[in-house]
Amino acid sequence: MSDKIEQVQSEALRAVEECGSAEELQQLRIRYLGKKGSIQELMAEMKSLPKEEKPAFGQKVNLLKAAVSQAIEARQEVLSAGEMDARLAAEKIDITLPGNRTEIGTIHPLQLIRRELEDLFVGMGYTIAEGPEVELDHYNFELANIPKDHPARDMQDTFYIDPNTLLRTHTTAMQMRELEKAEGKLPIKLICPGKVYRRDDDDATHSHQFMQCEGLVVGEHITLADLKGTLEYAANVMFGGGRKIRFRPSYFPFTEPSVEVDVSCPFCNGKGCSVCKHSGWIEILGAGMVHPHVLEINGFDPEKCSGFAFGIGLERMTMLKYGIDDIRNFYTNDLRFLKTFDRFD
Ligand code: DAH
Repeated sequence: MSDKIEQVQSEALRAVEECGSAEELQQLRIRYLGKKGSIQELMAEMKSLPKEEKPAFGQKVNLLKAAVSQAIEARQEVLSAGEMDARLAAEKIDITLPGNRTEIGTIHPLQLIRRELEDLFVGMGYTIAEGPEVELDHYNFELANIPKDHPARDMQDTFYIDPNTLLRTHTTAMQMRELEKAEGKLPIKLICPGKVYRRDDDDATHSHQFMQCEGLVVGEHITLADLKGTLEYAANVMFGGGRKIRFRPSYFPFTEPSVEVDVSCPFCNGKGCSVCKHSGWIEILGAGMVHPHVLEINGFDPEKCSGFAFGIGLERMTMLKYGIDDIRNFYTNDLRFLKTFDRFD
């Protein structure tokens, strides 16, 4: 009988030692320590032994059981350590590899200028108006004092959708909408930034789509001096302190008088350089006093109120401010160009 115990022990210990996986080890556990396992079988055989041999035999089987359990536990530890190593090796990540960079967008330079202008004018008590880019001829031209065969229509080559609908050629259309909406109520003080369209061939200084910011103030006793003060303040904020403003007579059908506005060159401080073509001045916008006829057809009494208006070209202003020499840069989405504005985010 003792031989049999030894035989089971050496067989079991060898099998455990040679076992290569947790699964196999579990099978061995069942084979030797299970309810119907070899060790249990030996216990059962104890019944047939003479009484005096039973205690010694029982003790030996218990020792066998302990030895096998211990060997299985020990093997279990070795195997799980090995499995962990294998898993670690298989799932190894090289944390020194460079990652994929997520590109973060930057604010578009035209939006930058738009926001600056909005902040500036909101700070002076203006509201911001918005309106349709697909506009009626009525607002874009008729109410702006430019009837059907007026020669001023040639100043703005237009994309027509049908004879009465077009892509707005200037934000002055919004000036007309707002005048109409006010129904004669004063005061009006607003800006309207937005896209406009003209049938121009694209080149370094022309784009068939560009941005303007319209300004409109109507109230009692509004004069050209108010316009000049407002624009001078705006020029100083946009281009740095010390800027001067100059008015040159001009013509727009919706203003009387009309002026073209120059700012003293921010590059040479008015001394004369290649940017200002040695004149010391750079043209930045068109403006004027709202034409009495425009006030009248929109329901205002030109004897009792007056107003000024201006239209700023945002591309031109941005190009001057940041020294950009080609308007197409704004619309070709070259990241190298756009990224240069990331410092303004
Ligand atoms: N609408 C004009 C243009 O696009 C710009 C302009 C000039 C707007 C004078 C005005 C203004 O409001 O008073 O060329």
